Amino acid sequence: MKLSAFATLFAAVGAANASGLNHHHGVLKRQASTTDSSSASSSAASSSSGGASSTASSGSSASVTAPASTGTASSNVEGVPPLKEITFGMPSGTAWEASTTVASGVVPTISGIPDAPAIPGFVFKSGAWPKQDKAPPTDSEEVKAWMKELDGFDIPDLEPTTDGYCASDPEFAADAENRGWWTCGGWTRDTDIVACNDKLTWGVSFDDGPGPYTPKLLKYLDEKDISATFFVVGSRVIERPAILVQEYMSGHEIAVHTWSHTHLTQQTTEQIVAELGWTRKAIKEVLGVTPTTMRPPYGDIDDRVRAISLAMGLVPMIWTRTPSATFDTNDWAVAAGNVDGESCVETFNNILGNATELDTGMIVLAHDLYEITVDLNMGYNLEAAQKHDPPFTLKAIGQCMDIPATDMYRETNTNKTFPSNKVAIDVSGDGTSDAETVASAGNGAAAMTLSTSFATLAGLAAVFATFF
Ligand SMILES: *[C@@H]1O[C@H](CO)[C@@H](O)[C@H](O)[C@H]1NC(C)=O
Ligand SMILES: *[C@@H]1O[C@H](CO)[C@@H](O)[C@H](O)[C@H]1NC(C)=O
Ligand SMILES: [Zn+2]
Repeated sequence: MKLSAFATLFAAVGAANASGLNHHHGVLKRQASTTDSSSASSSAASSSSGGASSTASSGSSASVTAPASTGTASSNVEGVPPLKEITFGMPSGTAWEASTTVASGVVPTISGIPDAPAIPGFVFKSGAWPKQDKAPPTDSEEVKAWMKELDGFDIPDLEPTTDGYCASDPEFAADAENRGWWTCGGWTRDTDIVACNDKLTWGVSFDDGPGPYTPKLLKYLDEKDISATFFVVGSRVIERPAILVQEYMSGHEIAVHTWSHTHLTQQTTEQIVAELGWTRKAIKEVLGVTPTTMRPPYGDIDDRVRAISLAMGLVPMIWTRTPSATFDTNDWAVAAGNVDGESCVETFNNILGNATELDTGMIVLAHDLYEITVDLNMGYNLEAAQKHDPPFTLKAIGQCMDIPATDMYRETNTNKTFPSNKVAIDVSGDGTSDAETVASAGNGAAAMTLSTSFATLAGLAAVFATFF
């Protein structure tokens, strides 16, 4: 399959110093905002669809943190370079192919999903999909059909943000608590999944693939018997369907991460529906199942994005934050040339340290799109968590939340309230509602309570930005 090169996926916008922020710890529930932030920097990395190379567009790298004395200069994991060599511009290995080709009609044997539908046997047809890595048009028949899924739901009338960062929208930033805007202060709602149930449990996830090095990671996960959740980009799914099938058939969880990796709070409601709808459809055409969970790129979610996602049958999963740390490995920043591999590993050691102080487990942001991010995570971070004293238990997010494997997909789900109790979903976008396993009708949005997790002082002038 020949497909055009894909666009910039890693975009980083600077974070201003947020000292002076105060937090009302009294209302802190599961998440808290961070007061630490780096000095402003901006950069982006891009990769060709071959995935063999990536280039940075901005040389203004943030200050590279001195390596911690972590004693992890080299990895025990085969095929992973010494830490010092894992840096922007490192020579790249050959892109990996999926380990096997799965014929159409094969019925997957997936632990916990006895009645998984057969693998459809996806064949890419040009013209059947929107342009890769571009916001899909909103005037298509599919998007019109998917818009109907919002009927009966209360979608808050929030004006789209300028670019998803609160620095650009002081007014919205001051109202971030009311908007439930996660990227702007860490506001969550009860429907968000942000941490694992059990202490010292890591709900492992990888975003932005399937990528050319994803099979390298899959081989490692298989050897270590670790399941993970993959938040996949629709544009990558149609590009590397066989790798998605391998992820799914290996027992990993598959979830939606948009079509073109946009900041969702910035998009119109039709655009959000298009981003989610095309990704849902791509996954269904490749796997035969439709995810019930999603992750907003950059964690950029507010009550409007949440309500649209839930109406489309997708429960948001973000990542853990505490008052002093956002659980972001920063692996993307190494791929972008902002920081070095040693800094990423040091960041992760801080995450492990912070996680030991939580009552819950953790969810951490990590990526499988680039070789750098694959090497850092499988060679160092995953190893560090397993060797930590005390050790972390590594599971996929659904597993760590005690969500039955069947409930991770619409076709096999038997739970009437997860993701919501609605009836009409039209994954194909052909205008006909799909047969439902969920029987009861009702307004799923009612389940979305408006309790907030924590508060920051309104009117903050400086903000913190996170990525992914
Ligand atoms: C938590 O994370 C912060 C910021 O990354 C770090 O400074 C701190 O040392 C960590 N705490 C622990 C207990 O590791
Ligand atoms: C359905 O999902 C909800 C939310 O995850 C959960 O609390 C409930 O126990 C589930 N019900 C069943 C029957 O599995
Ligand atoms: Zn992402």
